[in-house]
Amino acid sequence: MKPLEPCGVRLAGTGSAVPPQVLHNRDLERMMDTSDEWIAQRTGIRERRICDPTKEGTFTLGRDALVRALEASGMAGKDLDLVICGTCTGEMPCPSTACRIASEVGATPAAAFDLTAACCGFVYSMNVADSLIRSGRFRAVGVIGVDAMSTAIDYDDRSVSILFGDAAGAAVLVRDPDPTRGCIYQRMHADGAGWSNLYIPRRPQEVPEEDRDNPIKLGCLRMNGREVFRFAVTKFRETVEDALAGTGLGVDQIAQFVCHQSNQRIIEAAREKIGIPPEKMPVNIDRFGNSSAGSAGLLLDQLRRDGKFGVGDHVVLVAFGGGLTWASGVWRI
Ligand code: COA
Repeated sequence: MKPLEPCGVRLAGTGSAVPPQVLHNRDLERMMDTSDEWIAQRTGIRERRICDPTKEGTFTLGRDALVRALEASGMAGKDLDLVICGTCTGEMPCPSTACRIASEVGATPAAAFDLTAACCGFVYSMNVADSLIRSGRFRAVGVIGVDAMSTAIDYDDRSVSILFGDAAGAAVLVRDPDPTRGCIYQRMHADGAGWSNLYIPRRPQEVPEEDRDNPIKLGCLRMNGREVFRFAVTKFRETVEDALAGTGLGVDQIAQFVCHQSNQRIIEAAREKIGIPPEKMPVNIDRFGNSSAGSAGLLLDQLRRDGKFGVGDHVVLVAFGGGLTWASGVWRI
């Protein structure tokens, strides 16, 4: 068999979707013992978007984001040969959310699968898609990062519920003859020893002894906020520094650092330590909260539409989250 020609990957288009319903900190004040000031000071969040569970969810948000990414690419669903959906809130364990989205956008018989890496869902999926295109096995991939976290939140509890919102981001990636285009450096890591710092137990036996008194309902997200904060601040900085060292690029050569929107304090701490100007590490957490796998793709789409990066620019994607997982991808657009 003839060896495959080396190739690169072109970001043909991006899209995103959020539900119209806004849940402001002031709404949460009426639901639980908290305040707009406490939430904004600790997290940078003012409001987030929440699905109407009767008609919206992971599937509809992911589908709408991919439809918009296809429109931006000037491509149709039938042009895709693979759809990857990074999510941890798929409505059904079977079929995958990706299968239903692929069918809705007309991508049949493209391959389709979900990828579970919690808040790293979009960055992991982008890295996997780039690698599969470079392997020569796929030509055009629809990548989605989406979570409807409101479906896994106990709104009687104030410690976790204030952080999360619902959103989807998507990208269409296409084989390109220029091998220097696409994801030029990537890292994906996990440390399962820390799983119980951020988890969604379905049955009582999945709850570790030390968390048995936690009043959060089964089926809802539990978090050890302080441990996650410690992990995130360190890993986030290390991951960005590793991406710069691994590519030999300086901060001045990166157009945008597109980071998972976990908490403004976590992002700011890393940004200041590394010496990145604020305009290169934008945040939208004030308006959308932490949307898990949805956040990096949502921000990427907003930045692309605002013209914050273009062909030839370098963009760094970074995320960390449940698993525990952390990942980066350096893209030459
Ligand atoms: N409103 C008001 N008070 C609250 C509150 C809320 N929503 N949630 C907790 N508190 C209270 C606590 O009960 C505690 O009160 P006490 O001192 O009387 O016991 C106090 O505030 C401090 O709680 P603590 O949990 O130590 O707060 P914190 O400073 O660690 O902030 C987080 C909490 C969640 C904002 C912070 O730990 C965090 O951001 N962690 C990382 C979360 C994250 O990014 N997760 C996603 C990763 S992908």
